[in-house]
Amino acid sequence: MSKTQSLKFVHHPNPSPVPASKRAELLANPGFGRVFSDHMVTIRYSDADHWHDARIEPRGPISMDPAAAVLHYAQEIFEGLKAYKTGDGATLFRPRENARRFQQSAERLAMPVLPEELFLEAVDQLVSIDRAWIPDGDGSLYIRPFMFANEIFLGVKPSSDYLFIVIASSVGSYFKTDAPAVSLWVSQEFTRAAPGGTGAAKCGGNYASSLLAQAEATRNGCDQVVFLDAVEQKWVEELGGMNIFFVFDDGSMVTPPLGGTILPGITRSSLLTLAKDKGIKVREDRYSIDQWRTDARSGRLREAFACGTAAVVTPIGTVRSKDGEFKIGNGGPGTQTEDLKSALVGIQRGHAADKYGWIHKVF
Ligand SMILES: Cc1ncc(COP(=O)(O)O)c(C=O)c1O
Repeated sequence: MSKTQSLKFVHHPNPSPVPASKRAELLANPGFGRVFSDHMVTIRYSDADHWHDARIEPRGPISMDPAAAVLHYAQEIFEGLKAYKTGDGATLFRPRENARRFQQSAERLAMPVLPEELFLEAVDQLVSIDRAWIPDGDGSLYIRPFMFANEIFLGVKPSSDYLFIVIASSVGSYFKTDAPAVSLWVSQEFTRAAPGGTGAAKCGGNYASSLLAQAEATRNGCDQVVFLDAVEQKWVEELGGMNIFFVFDDGSMVTPPLGGTILPGITRSSLLTLAKDKGIKVREDRYSIDQWRTDARSGRLREAFACGTAAVVTPIGTVRSKDGEFKIGNGGPGTQTEDLKSALVGIQRGHAADKYGWIHKVF
C-alpha cells in the first residue's frame, strides 16, 4: 500500500495540444461528451506488480489485444464527476465520494481496489494539466475515470491485469431539449437491476442493458427512461442515468431507498443533506408507479425531479407509458426543485458557503 501511495506520475505532455483558438471554438458550444481535453492519466495493475506505471500522457487511442478480457466478459467500471472553474483555479465536488464508490464497484466486479488517494491524485493531475478545457459560464469539465480487465485470456474469471484511465470532456447541458422540464418513459418490459445483481455498481454492463429501454423511450418521444423494480414491476427505482425525487403538496419529499438495485448517487446524497438542513421532511421510501399517477392527478404530488452529476437537478414534466400519460404540477419547474437546485449549484460553483466541506480545490 505505501508503495502504491507514493506512485510517481511520469509526465509526457502533449507535444501538439489543440491550439487555443480552436479550443475556444469547441468550448463555445461543447454539448455533452464530444469534446475532449489534451491529456489522459493511465495506471496499470497486475497481480504481480499491483498498481504501477502511472502516467500523464497525450489523450489518444489505446491499443488492445482482441482477446482482452473486457471485450468478452465486460469486467469494467467507471465514475463521473465535474471540475468547475473558480477564479484562476479549479474545484471538484466531493471527489472522495467518487473514489469510494469506485472501490465499491470494483469489489462487486471482482476487480482490484484502487486506493482513494491514488484516484484523487489521478483526477487532480488531469484537471490541473487540462484546466484550460473547463468552459466558462454554466459549463464544466466532466471527468471520466474508468478501469477495465486487460488480461489476454478467453475464460470467465477475474482478470489478472487492469488498466485504469482518466479522461476529461468539456461539457454544457446534458439534455438537448429546450423544454422547461423533461419527459419520462416508464419501462414496463425491461428492468435495470435485480436483487443480488450489479445495480449499485457503476459498471458498463448496467448501461448496455438499459439501451433498449432508452431507445423505446426515445421512440415514444421521451427524454429518459424510468425503471421499476424487477421483482414486482411496481416500485419506481431510478432513471437510466439519474436518481429521482418526488415533492408533495405539504413540502415533504420522497426518494427511492438504496437497496442494492439503484446507484447511490452523490447528487442524491447531497440533496438529502441540503433538504434536511432546510427543514424539509424527506424520506427514503418506496413509491409505486400507481401512487405516482394517482398523486399527480389529484395534485398531492406537486413536483418531481431527476438528479445526477450530468443532469444536476432536472424537473420532470410528463410521464408516459403504454397505459397513457400524466403531467406533474404545471409541467414545468417547481419552486422547491429550483430552490434545491440553486442551493446545490451555489456550493458547486463557489457562489455559496461550503459548510459541509464538499469542495476540493485543485492546485
Ligand atoms: C444510473 C444512475 N443513477 C444515478 C446517477 C447519479 O449519480 P451521481 O449523482 O453520483 O452522479 C447516475 C450518474 O452517475 C447514474 O448513472
